[in-house]
Amino acid sequence: MQIDLQRKLFDEISGYINTNTTCLAASEMPHLGSSYIDPEYLAREKDLLRTLPQIVGHSSSLAEPNSYIAHNDTGVPILVVRQADGSLKAFLNICRHRAARLCEPGKGKAKLFTCPYHAWTYSPDGKLAGLMREGFPNISSEQSDLIELPVEERHGLIWLVGTPGAEIDVAAFLGPLDTEFESFPMTNFVLERDAVIDVDINWKFVLDGFLEVYHIPKLHTTTIAPWFFGRHSPFEIIGPHSRLVGIRKSFTSIKDGAFEDSEFLRNIAINYQVFPNSFFIWQGDHFEIWTSYPGEVPGKCKVRVQSLCKPEMIGAEFEKRWDRNWSILLGTVEAEDWAMSKEVQASLPHVPGMQILFGANEPGMQHFHSELDKLIEAAR
Ligand code: FES
Ligand SMILES: [Fe+2]
Repeated sequence: MQIDLQRKLFDEISGYINTNTTCLAASEMPHLGSSYIDPEYLAREKDLLRTLPQIVGHSSSLAEPNSYIAHNDTGVPILVVRQADGSLKAFLNICRHRAARLCEPGKGKAKLFTCPYHAWTYSPDGKLAGLMREGFPNISSEQSDLIELPVEERHGLIWLVGTPGAEIDVAAFLGPLDTEFESFPMTNFVLERDAVIDVDINWKFVLDGFLEVYHIPKLHTTTIAPWFFGRHSPFEIIGPHSRLVGIRKSFTSIKDGAFEDSEFLRNIAINYQVFPNSFFIWQGDHFEIWTSYPGEVPGKCKVRVQSLCKPEMIGAEFEKRWDRNWSILLGTVEAEDWAMSKEVQASLPHVPGMQILFGANEPGMQHFHSELDKLIEAAR
């Protein structure tokens, strides 16, 4: 994070602690609870997601030429392949003959992709490499090559737009967040862990858990509340994205000292929302990246958690520490945040038309949900 920004946040947090205040929106905001349970709203959310850059993995998971990943997590069947020249190409994982799934979901390395139906084969650049020519004397490569999807590597991650022919420009999409991520610098980070979890809650609940710290003292009484405040958090809107800073209780011991002596980044957590469905969470010395993909029905989603650290933090001596970190992380989120979200998911249908409330002390919730509503409305 840029040093000037660190200084500004240091002063802001110290001020909040000294005056026992926190960052506030103008007022509380009602929001229609049905957005978590309405299949029609879900369909519109999915349409929107197909037009925005989605994180589909870490660059290092496709290091070798001809290595590939295939999955449907984003709601679009994708096949991403490392090319001989080091670039990436992404395709719809759909055979051009009669639309069979070309490649089984998973990771691997292949010089050719062979369709399991009638054995059309494709090279890693998506060109049709083999078929029974007598049956198709006149087809063009436009009819037979795999359909490309826009893909880009940035900040060590693979981003893709699930709409053929769409533009992709991740730096422009991130806006000022791009510079902020660059300052860490994430491109040099390596993937320490990567997991995909199916969860029976609406995809937005996963993000809500990182958009406010208000719930920490009660919901996380024995897990993270001893370490983090439930207030004093600076929040900033960055285009459709946002930054919410979580304050470790250890901050009280540095707040009145000099910024230079504060080890500022070790005394905070930073929740960067990359709109709409990812969080980059700075955890003092590493990043967690959470991506929530909508499921088939409003009450289901798929969550991808990636842990990224500096290369020097990989090795046998760090393993125990990462294992511990991982079990605290999932223990807290699964057993507390998502368990509570399941309760909310079950309650909402009992009050048709219910307006839930986002407090002035929950500006991140207000921003995310109004931004999502606005874009969905605009796409109508
Ligand atoms: S559908 Fe793929 S070869 Fe026929
Ligand atoms: Fe939480």
